[in-house]
Amino acid sequence: MSLIKRLVPLSLKQKIKTFQEDFQRRQLFGALAPLVPPVERMYDGPPGLAEFKANGEEFLAIYRERCGLRPDERMLDIGCGTGRKTLPLTQYFDARAVYEGVDIRQEGVDWCREKITPRFPHFHFRQIDVYNQLYNPRGTHRASEYQFPFPDASFSFAVLGSVFTHMLPDDLAHYLREVARMLESRGRCLISYFLLNEESLRHVEAGEGTLDLKYVSEQYRVISLEVPEEAIAFDERWVTNLYAEAGLEIVRLDYGSWCGRRDHLSYQDLVLAVKS
Ligand SMILES: C[S@@+](CC[C@H](N)C(=O)[O-])C[C@H]1O[C@@H](n2cnc3c(N)ncnc32)[C@H](O)[C@@H]1O
Repeated sequence: MSLIKRLVPLSLKQKIKTFQEDFQRRQLFGALAPLVPPVERMYDGPPGLAEFKANGEEFLAIYRERCGLRPDERMLDIGCGTGRKTLPLTQYFDARAVYEGVDIRQEGVDWCREKITPRFPHFHFRQIDVYNQLYNPRGTHRASEYQFPFPDASFSFAVLGSVFTHMLPDDLAHYLREVARMLESRGRCLISYFLLNEESLRHVEAGEGTLDLKYVSEQYRVISLEVPEEAIAFDERWVTNLYAEAGLEIVRLDYGSWCGRRDHLSYQDLVLAVKS
């Protein structure tokens, strides 16, 4: 068998792989299959069709059950990537809803705009040219000064999934103030983090987590000094103070499994807050 495999030309192997992937994509996503990027273009999370689907479904359930997401909301998704968490929303939101997906990486925005918007015109996507060493090293704007192109109180629900796990402290603090500005009164935001507190630090120190957070600064820890945006964990108290300063009241905090914690909701810690 291995001899036969070795004799098959590379181009044919690639064709077989693409055929298998297309088949699996149709099986998993049905009519939405053309909106799912090729596995090699899934730069924004675990690559794999089953993983893409599971993550989207997990978060639609969290949005609905934990955040009370209704089918007619005005939603802002900062760092929407290739639409992993967007796709199931196309089946949930009705025509009154508006979804604005924003990302700094052109390829994710291009994909979503070309594939999702033509079928679901109330789903919009735009690229913002903000610098991030990992995701947009040529970006021209500083995240710590960037003003989003949406008026005050534009949205009833905002999410940042696995975005503040890749941003530096001043950038995060400014983005959080921007989120508060763009939310209407009583609007909610769901943001994921790696939060450092007594419990998570105990697990991290014991080497039980998925991240080797060996570089320690005052309010955060990182796995790489060269590219700190690869993965950043923040001191929980520092983060919760920022919420208070931004006028956001934390109403729910569900800790994640990232540090090796057994009792968890998702992989990252999820903070749900309401604009007070
Ligand atoms: C790990 S991916 C998560 C993608 C998506 N939110 C999800 O959960 O599937 C992080 C995304 O955040 C984007 N990102 C990083 N820094 C950003 C910033 N300053 N502003 C907006 N998006 C950013 C990246 O380009 C990338 O698409």
